[in-house]
Amino acid sequence: MLKVLTSVLALLVASAFTSAQPAPGRFDAATKVFRLDGGGSSYVFGVNARGELQQLYWGGRLGASDTFPAAKVMPEWASFDTSYTNTPQEYAGWGGGLYMEPALKIAFPDGNRDLVLHYESHAATTNGFDVVMKDISHPIYVTLHYAMDPGSGILARSATIENRGSEAATVEQAAAASWSLPAARYTLNYLTGRWAGEWTLNQESLLAGARVIESRRGSTGHQANPWFALQAGEASEDHGEVWFGALAWSGSWRITVERDQLDAVRVTGGFNPFDFGYVLHPGMSLETPVFYGGYSPHGLGGASRLLHHFELEHILPLPSSTAASAAGAEPKALTPKLRPVIYNSWEATEFGVNEAGQMALAEKAAALGIDRFVMDDGWFGQRKDDHAGLGDWYVNQEKFPHGLKPLIDKVHALGMDFGLWVEPEMVNPDSDLYRNHPEWVLNFKGRPETQQRNQLVLNLARPDVHAYILGFLDKLLTENDIAFLKWDYNRNWSEPGWDQVPPAEQKQVYVEYTKNLYAILAELRQRHPKVEIESCSGGGGRVDLGILKYVDEVWPSDNTDPFDRLTQQNGFTYAYAPQIMMAWVTDSPHWLNNRTTSLQYRMLSSMQGSLGIGANIEKWTPDETSAAKRLIAAYKDVQSTIVQGDLYRLISPLNESEFSATETVKADKSQAVLFAFIHSTQEGRGFPTLKLKGLDATAKYKLTSIEGKPRVGTPEVASGAWWMNHGLEMDEGFRGDFQAAAFRFDRK
Ligand code: DGJ
Repeated sequence: MLKVLTSVLALLVASAFTSAQPAPGRFDAATKVFRLDGGGSSYVFGVNARGELQQLYWGGRLGASDTFPAAKVMPEWASFDTSYTNTPQEYAGWGGGLYMEPALKIAFPDGNRDLVLHYESHAATTNGFDVVMKDISHPIYVTLHYAMDPGSGILARSATIENRGSEAATVEQAAAASWSLPAARYTLNYLTGRWAGEWTLNQESLLAGARVIESRRGSTGHQANPWFALQAGEASEDHGEVWFGALAWSGSWRITVERDQLDAVRVTGGFNPFDFGYVLHPGMSLETPVFYGGYSPHGLGGASRLLHHFELEHILPLPSSTAASAAGAEPKALTPKLRPVIYNSWEATEFGVNEAGQMALAEKAAALGIDRFVMDDGWFGQRKDDHAGLGDWYVNQEKFPHGLKPLIDKVHALGMDFGLWVEPEMVNPDSDLYRNHPEWVLNFKGRPETQQRNQLVLNLARPDVHAYILGFLDKLLTENDIAFLKWDYNRNWSEPGWDQVPPAEQKQVYVEYTKNLYAILAELRQRHPKVEIESCSGGGGRVDLGILKYVDEVWPSDNTDPFDRLTQQNGFTYAYAPQIMMAWVTDSPHWLNNRTTSLQYRMLSSMQGSLGIGANIEKWTPDETSAAKRLIAAYKDVQSTIVQGDLYRLISPLNESEFSATETVKADKSQAVLFAFIHSTQEGRGFPTLKLKGLDATAKYKLTSIEGKPRVGTPEVASGAWWMNHGLEMDEGFRGDFQAAAFRFDRK
């Protein structure tokens, strides 16, 4: 009875957050306190007696009638730590004795570099506030934007920095936001990696000092991802308070997590200040990226579920038809389209693509039930390997004597749509483009041009390069029936010079390049609304909430080893929804680790995200072909639950675990899908009983095997309470190395 009541209450609370809600923002003029409520969280800040904006609270949702006293500044700590540095400011200028990471640092032409921002005014917006601050003497205005998502309680913060004076000023450092947490013990979670080894979850006690997570590479980077989560006390998947954030920027970025001298915590993130400089001439302004922040009382699992839903509902592009019909219409739940199951030829052919070979693969792919056939690198210019061709985006006549049309027609006739690989931002020195426009690459005049993978980076900040890239892509998409672009980016920056503009403005390349990249993506989507795009950067080198506003999916790693993918996918899902994560089934033994695994194991590993096949399917045996065909069909039946549902990481693959398991539950709890993996059975241990989560305790669920068997005697139908409390036991024979099983649970 109690359980029924709790779930009814939970439903009521959930629906209260999704429809007909009051505006999330409130301002108390008497105390000068701003309050934002959304989902299960509240965020409160106020104007203190000095005029600074000071954070007052961030955590679980407060009662509607609760009020806050006016913000009270922190005292100084002896004579060494000023009140200005100890006070948890929302957006502190570097000046007035600030020793914490500044949100904003500006140099004025007379050498003055002191900046102290005070509240000026504010305006209510649909989901929050725009709060205007001004330096105490210079006409530098900063508008802080706050937008609370009523459903998830995730707050979007950013700043517009404006020079209303008559002299230029140089922004030397600009964050999107600072987030503060009171003195306590926290565990910091963040993601790092390298090529073919992305998505390592790091979990460490937050000690005194600053922990810097960053990219200085011109793009997001494989080495660190712009996401963090701070958990009170020890890290836990299911329990405890978690504050998390994700920065929406695909250029050089930095997140600094500080535990100060009084043990208070401040997280400041935005443009990477390393080698940064942005000249604001009179009347000019600079817009920072958005830094999203959220709170969950349900551990890291709760935090990632909130973030996944937020990404699906508010970040990823919507299908073009829905987006158009939704404009101006009633707000309704909109979700991005499920990813088609793709075939990609890269691992099968590498650069050796040609008309006959691709057609033969397309026939095999169609027979498997593939929806989209994607041709990878090698189809253009004089591209035989990675030494030549990038920049010359004409179809290679030797490989495709009649252009792309015969292949595209064939793919369509087989019932699939067609996708194509491009790497628009790059050029090989051995290309007509470079021979004609050597000045188009990022470089410092007279200095070496460091090559990586034999290629250089085109400077997208230049208007001519911007026009060229938009032009060739627009032509490609206009002349060919292409449904999908795999947009690759296979190196980082070196020598980031831009000699077209005055020396003082050349560092603006860090901002303008990324803004132009977004502009090109937005323009292409607008001109070709049916085209979908994947962000790939030699794997997961450009995955962040900035690029995800313009692309439908990402390529998480070039490492497609199905065992390695389990840990990578685990790390990936702390920050990003399974829908975003493309996962191909490739050949065994795997090229990277020389590991041999069964087709079933490879399929189930990839079926936890958006499924693709990247193997040489011409070589598959009839048994492999029919197993893949069956599993692709089974996947499509439950795909929306897997990629858009609530993800529970039941057993982590980390720390040399023998096992791992994930479960996803559809939002309406009508279906759950479970994946279980044995890495290597040791000392005869059987697979642990899997206690499901997130089901409706009182409903009945029917168990169906997708692959593998439950223990003999397991009920076919049982209550949600049974599956969650008693759990699912696996068949005795589920042992060995690299074994996998999957089950679905359907509400009766
Ligand atoms: C790197 C990508 O991650 C691969 O999938 C493939 O597209 C190659 N580039 C092609 O050069």
